[in-house]
This record gives sequence, C-alpha cells and structure tokens, in this order.
Amino acid sequence: MIVRRELPADQAAVRAVIAAAFTRDGTDPIEARLLDELRADSGWLPQFSLVAVDGDEPAGGEIVGHVVCTRGRVVGAAGETPALGLGPIGVRPDRQGQGIGLALMHAVLGAADALDEPLVALLGSPAFYGRFGFRRSTDFEITPPEPDWAEYFQIRPLTAYAPTPGVFRYAAPFEGL
Ligand SMILES: CC(C)(COP(=O)(O)OP(=O)(O)OC[C@H]1O[C@@H](n2cnc3c(N)ncnc32)[C@H](O)[C@@H]1OP(=O)(O)O)[C@@H](O)C(=O)NCCC(=O)NCCS
Repeated sequence: MIVRRELPADQAAVRAVIAAAFTRDGTDPIEARLLDELRADSGWLPQFSLVAVDGDEPAGGEIVGHVVCTRGRVVGAAGETPALGLGPIGVRPDRQGQGIGLALMHAVLGAADALDEPLVALLGSPAFYGRFGFRRSTDFEITPPEPDWAEYFQIRPLTAYAPTPGVFRYAAPFEGL
C-alpha cells in the first residue's frame, strides 16, 4: 500500500470509498455529499487530498482509503488565521483495522507541517486521534464551530503554530451539515 496525492482520474473511486466507509442504511451518506461540495468550494486544497492505493500502479492499483484537509480559519479578535479542517477520512470497510487510516493520518499531517500550515482541526473520537497529537481545541483557546462539539473537536498544532485564540470555521460546505 502506498499513500499519494489524488489524481483527477481517482475521483469516482475516492467517492465510492468514502460512501462505503460511511454508509449506515444503504443511502448515500452525508460525508460523500460533503466531499462533492468541498471539491466545488474555494476551500478545496488538492495538495491535501491523499489516497491509499493497494497493488501495482498504474495497471492494478486500487484505492482503499482517502483523507482530505480543506481551508478553514481561526477567527479571533486579531483577525483571521488560515488553518486546515480535516475530513472526511475513510477506509474501505473490508480494509479497515489494517493500519491504512494510520498511514493516511501521518501522511496528511506530515504534508501540512512541511507546507507550513499552523494547525489541523477535526471532529472525531479522542481515542483514535489522540495518538496523532490532537488535543481538545479548548486547550488552545480555540472554540469549536458548534459549542456542543467541545468534547470531540480537536486541534493538532504544527511547527508553524502560534497561539491564535478564536473560533474555528470550516470551509463553507461544512456549515450546511
Ligand atoms: C476511522 C478509520 C478512517 C480508521 O482507519 P483504519 O484503517 O480502520 O484504522 P487503522 O487500522 O489505521 O487503526 C489504527 C487504530 O485506530 C483504532 N481505531 C480505528 N477506528 C477508530 C475509531 N473510530 N475510534 C477509536 N479507535 C479507532 C484501531 O482500533 C487501531 O487501534 P490499535 O492499533 O490500537 O488497534 C476507518 O476505520 C473508517 O473509515 N471508518 C469509517 C468512517 C469513519 O468513521 N471515519 C472517521 C470519522 S471521524
């Protein structure tokens, strides 16, 4: 398995992986539609859309996981600071629990750090994301977009991080969830 940037030809397979990872009742999950809307949004950052690929490329490669970060911001008294919002992340159900999510997370965090992003924010299980250095956003004086999310809204500060108290705002498509 390798992790690399998504290419234009991967889009349908990526959507299928995300839809399969999040399907609960057979209907198209909200996360797949969110991905469609993020792609069309000004906050889409192609350098942070990564795929996990099984097998030999280009002939036999198969996409088994995907992660993306899009442009968010921390809005505080001193103005707006660009930041990244992570998600959705998904691994094909038959390949979950085999380290693919771990590889995608490390790859996207390494890319964000290398490209001088200050922080990555996400909503998710502290049990899963704590291992990547995520902590409650309120530890960094960053308020979640929705106050009810406090327990699950987390921040991973990167090398370029500097304290910027404020409210985190995702790319616009997240607002419609
Ligand atoms: C969450 C997800 C991306 C993780 O990818 P994965 O390839 O299955 O995870 P890995 O095999 O790399 O797991 C690494 C570790 O995380 C744990 N883990 C996986 N998903 C977890 C979750 N939702 N909560 C807590 N721990 C989790 C695994 O048990 C494993 O821990 P261990 O090494 O101590 O046993 C994947 O399971 C998935 O697509 N789930 C459905 C969609 C989803 O919930 N996405 C995340 C929304 S926030």
